[in-house]
Amino acid sequence: MNNNPVGIFDSGIGGLTVVKAVKRILPHEDIIYLGDTARLPYGTKSTDAIIQFSLEDTQFLVDRGVKYVVIACYSSASVALDIIKTTFSVPIIGVIRPGVRKALQMTKTGRIGVIGTSLTIYSGAYEKAFKEISAQSEILGKACPLFVPLVEEGWLDHMVTELVARDYLTPLKRDNVDTLLLGCTHYPLLMKVIRQIMGDINYVDASTEVGVELARSLRDLDLENHEGKGSTAIYLTDLSMNFKEIGERFLGEPMKNFSRVSLKGREGMK
Ligand code: DGL
Repeated sequence: MNNNPVGIFDSGIGGLTVVKAVKRILPHEDIIYLGDTARLPYGTKSTDAIIQFSLEDTQFLVDRGVKYVVIACYSSASVALDIIKTTFSVPIIGVIRPGVRKALQMTKTGRIGVIGTSLTIYSGAYEKAFKEISAQSEILGKACPLFVPLVEEGWLDHMVTELVARDYLTPLKRDNVDTLLLGCTHYPLLMKVIRQIMGDINYVDASTEVGVELARSLRDLDLENHEGKGSTAIYLTDLSMNFKEIGERFLGEPMKNFSRVSLKGREGMK
């Protein structure tokens, strides 16, 4: 047993979808969430910058005594998971592999589409994870960089969003993928539009899978908290315009207990 909180970080507030899933699956765990809203978006920046930011994000959580770190940001998990694992001794889980395992369970044809930010897709992290877990699948990746600002704007089923989605997703539809992995914190909010275009195929939102794997890992490592109140403390590096409205869209409930923090710099690892 360990009553320390679980630490979860993301580039912004989209990772609250992972918080929501973790709270549902592990109601007694206390959570410290860090959203690096001052430096959002991560998905359009360089690998080096995101490795540096992710190390700083992890350091913030570790300094607060977390027993486990969850990388809720797909862009960070794509490029920084390995280096974070070798830099810190606290156990760490990312959002990539849990989604890959679920997609492999669901696919019948082995043709799997993956959508994400430019950094996530061009990093090749998904191809690598799929190859390591199963050689049987054919992965079709597509970067959808405009989806994040559309969700932040609240245009969840606006006609502009539908046009953009049609442009991005038509190649995947044409290639007959039978499973689509939503490889970005923001994309589950676009499910209605995505489903209109892609139709009745399998969809993977990794947040639930991350919660399930976290629960299993906490049990295996004997780190569970059975008595906690399930509190959530939210730290943001900038209380940017509309952050509360956007955050509640992801969290699905009123956002309480949040504060602004500055991150200490951390030496990058080369
Ligand atoms: N959280 C990011 C991700 O999941 C999306 C937003 C961003 O680009 O920072 O990749």
